[in-house]
Amino acid sequence: MKKYPYQITSLEEYKEAYEKSIQQPEAFWGDIAENFTWKKKWDDVLSWNFQEPKVEWFKGASLNITENCLDRHIESIGDRPAIIWEPNDPEEHHRVLTYKDLHKKVCQFAHVLENNGVKKGDPVCIYMGMIPELAIAVLACARIGAIHSVIFGGFSAQSIADRLLDAKAEFIVTCDGAFRGQKDIPLKSVIDDALIACPFVKRVIVCTRTRIPVSMIKGRDVWWEEEIKKVETLGLKYFDAEPMDAEDPLFILYTSGSTGKPKGVVHSTAGYMVNTNYSFVNAFQYNPGDIFFCTADIGWITGHSYILYGPLSAGATTVIFEGIPTWPDAGRFWDIVDKYKVNTLYTAPTAIRSLMGFGLEPLKGKDLSSLKVLGSVGEPINEEAWHWYDEHIGKGKCPIVDTWWQTETGSIMITNFAGVTPAIPGTATLPMPGVLPCLVDENGKEIEGNSVSGNLCIKQTWPSIIRTTYNDHERCKQTYFSTYENMYFTGDGAMRDDKGNYKITGRVDDVLNVSGHRIGTAELENAMNMHAGVIESAIVGYPHDLKGQGIYAFLIYEGNLEDPDLIRQDIIQTVSRIIGPIAKPDKIQFVTGLPKTRSGKIMRRILRKIAENDFANVGDTSTLLDPAVVEEIIAGKI
Ligand code: PRX
Repeated sequence: MKKYPYQITSLEEYKEAYEKSIQQPEAFWGDIAENFTWKKKWDDVLSWNFQEPKVEWFKGASLNITENCLDRHIESIGDRPAIIWEPNDPEEHHRVLTYKDLHKKVCQFAHVLENNGVKKGDPVCIYMGMIPELAIAVLACARIGAIHSVIFGGFSAQSIADRLLDAKAEFIVTCDGAFRGQKDIPLKSVIDDALIACPFVKRVIVCTRTRIPVSMIKGRDVWWEEEIKKVETLGLKYFDAEPMDAEDPLFILYTSGSTGKPKGVVHSTAGYMVNTNYSFVNAFQYNPGDIFFCTADIGWITGHSYILYGPLSAGATTVIFEGIPTWPDAGRFWDIVDKYKVNTLYTAPTAIRSLMGFGLEPLKGKDLSSLKVLGSVGEPINEEAWHWYDEHIGKGKCPIVDTWWQTETGSIMITNFAGVTPAIPGTATLPMPGVLPCLVDENGKEIEGNSVSGNLCIKQTWPSIIRTTYNDHERCKQTYFSTYENMYFTGDGAMRDDKGNYKITGRVDDVLNVSGHRIGTAELENAMNMHAGVIESAIVGYPHDLKGQGIYAFLIYEGNLEDPDLIRQDIIQTVSRIIGPIAKPDKIQFVTGLPKTRSGKIMRRILRKIAENDFANVGDTSTLLDPAVVEEIIAGKI
């Protein structure tokens, strides 16, 4: 039975909806958009071109996404849990925030932001652990019309400073610290380091979590709790949601690419809202009242779209988990499923592989019978992990949705619908309604027919497509819309099977996918090269049992290599400082030269083969400036 008017419940319906979405996108999305709360309806559903690019959905409409995520649910389901929060330490009390509670807190914090000088259109950087206040801060920004820029807690001070500078963000919301497994991460202290390079920051709001000692600078730093008290004393409660244009930016999220520094992917309001909601309701076949648990961090797009905006706009109950899957033991996810009777679990292949490694012991005594749907995201899921997930977690009765999408796409693009369209292990299968994928060869020619592979592009716009890269529209154009004419280029390769199902094979550009996190090799090389003694570096990915891809660094090092392990540690430390712990290389090999063409280009293809131990297939080396270097590198590896 349909729980939402636009929920698709059969393969035939999917086919029909898909056809309509491609032939008549205006009529298709216009009908869906009728189900949301608008302050003013749109004049046009859609106008777009991929040349500039300029994409506008629901132009002329006015809305606030938080009215759709909160206010409109208050009367009907105000007492239903919006957020269930599971703390890092299972001994600590969990928290439940109903829709009414969340609404109240978001309004309060919107007042706090306003009192601290935040205005519509201001970028606000959020650097917090996974606590309900993170969700509250994000939604309060949206309520006031400020543009949130959430930065994952695993990024370094330098990375934060880069992002603050890029967005000229004058406001920060952070915590004293964060608990993650056995670690206490000193978030405020990292922010303090970042701020040395960012004197333009006016205000830092610090939420109490670990209550480690923190420095609080007069006139700049204030405590979250004290600011809330002020709002209460003033008797400020309801906060009038700022009317936003459909195309007003909702948030910036920085992501790595194949060149330079991370870019600020900008998403706008109405299209993003409609698309995340639609994909949430359909891919996962969400039923009102179900408990939805997405294990991602809100610092990534998956958390934005499927912990917050998708579920909350659909009136769902979303679980926020502060900790990690392996602490206090490798049964933590299963404890959470059991404790809250989770119905849908959405996680990453890297987590599944790591938990598989602990065997079945951590599953003992855990009741997983509440599970109805499983999901996978972030990287291709290998068949072994798929079958383990299916057999041991889903007990063979839960459809697994393999959802392919990206920070830039905002919502799920290619996936099966749980129990509605067929699942194929390791295959994302069919495009969501509204998504027109195609495969192209190196020359930009579309590859027709089935049982083919090529570079994955999208030929038509969809509501939650990236609008620009912050303050640098040209970069957006160059990165996504210039490789192939009139197409959005994903950077991924894919195969289309004999029935038209898409199987994503991985990145075709110089971007690595490490534990489901995207890291550009250029960014990594820049960080390596900053280490004193490193003359040159070349980074490639290699198959890694747990992470999917590991980071392999070939380095030319000048200086004393008497204790290479210590030097390796130093270099890892440098990368950690420059980018963050998530970018630590897994392997470092010191070499005397790199395989380069006569024009000086590093032949990564050769290095990739060496990193994979596939020495027999390094291929033709005759075009290299110095072919002997390849033998040397291989010898150094063995
Ligand atoms: O290579 C694809 C991979 O993750 C990339 C996007 O990374 P990011 O923007 O960080 O977003 C991750 C979460 C949406 C893609 O270009 N990827 C994502 N999902 C899948 C995937 N690869 C294969 N199968 C998937 N289901």
